Amino acid sequence: SRPLLIDTDPGIDDALALLMAFGHPDVEVVGLCIAAGNVGLSNTVANALKLCEVAGVDVPVFPGCATPLVHAAADASYVHGRDGFGDTGFLPAKRAPESEHAALAMLRLSHRHAGELTLVTLGPMTNLALALRLDPTLPSRIKRLVVMGGAVTGQGNTLVPTEFNIGFDPEAAHVALSAFERYELVDWEAVLRHGLDRSEFEQWLQAGDHRAAFYAAISRQTRDWSADRRGERWLCADALAMALVLEPSHGELDWRPLQVETAGHATRGATVVDWQRRSGRPDSAGILARYDQQRFEALARSALGA
Ligand code: BDR
Ligand code: CA
Repeated sequence: SRPLLIDTDPGIDDALALLMAFGHPDVEVVGLCIAAGNVGLSNTVANALKLCEVAGVDVPVFPGCATPLVHAAADASYVHGRDGFGDTGFLPAKRAPESEHAALAMLRLSHRHAGELTLVTLGPMTNLALALRLDPTLPSRIKRLVVMGGAVTGQGNTLVPTEFNIGFDPEAAHVALSAFERYELVDWEAVLRHGLDRSEFEQWLQAGDHRAAFYAAISRQTRDWSADRRGERWLCADALAMALVLEPSHGELDWRPLQVETAGHATRGATVVDWQRRSGRPDSAGILARYDQQRFEALARSALGA
């Protein structure tokens, strides 16, 4: 099975993505590197550990950066709850996090699985940027980088042209995305095109096992919040990115040059895609054009035991 390292800021959609990865026969999750993003680091670490406990897996959890590289940023607790997992007051997991920093763990695991490792980022890219500054040869050991982030036509979910993960730490995204010759990108507009049907999703939550029961509890607030705004579509960004990680043959990519805007008055954190290939820059970003919706649904559903 393929070794997979996940950098994440759990987070309601991160949680479903992690359950998908834990349950999939083709991959072995070798670690969870934790970022601040949706909420602060102490909560994202606690949430990752709790999710492992619920799923019955012993994957090591490496706490990473508690702030963006340069500028402070606002979290997304208004979507995910103050604790990032729906404020249900669950008991903390029994297991403690590792003492090794996420950026160092990323480097170490890249050596252990050199040439084999898939890395997916489901949150701000701060840990990866730090790892790259410590060791710029990291990309040569990574087989595949998949990124959930960006708004490739300006239809983001934070400030008008930006998506949360990139907007939270644009400098980190700039460092990371300019260091890799090729990476796959699941942008916010792809998420908008691949919503899950809300009533079907609720049926899976009812029909599934203990993972579904936990997920139903932590996602309740967010599902209510999103029902008011998005009607019948349940958008699960990180889960879509994970579908591409797990079963890439069901996705289609459109390769283009991409740059991250780190300055700009109205555009800081925007992902600027050279759709017409006028810049002569290399086609570094494989932007998700479409993913087989039935396959995405099947992966999400089976992660809940439904
Ligand atoms: C991304 O932002 C976060 O709130 C989600 O967890 C996801 O990673 C979507 O823009
Ligand atoms: Ca996330």
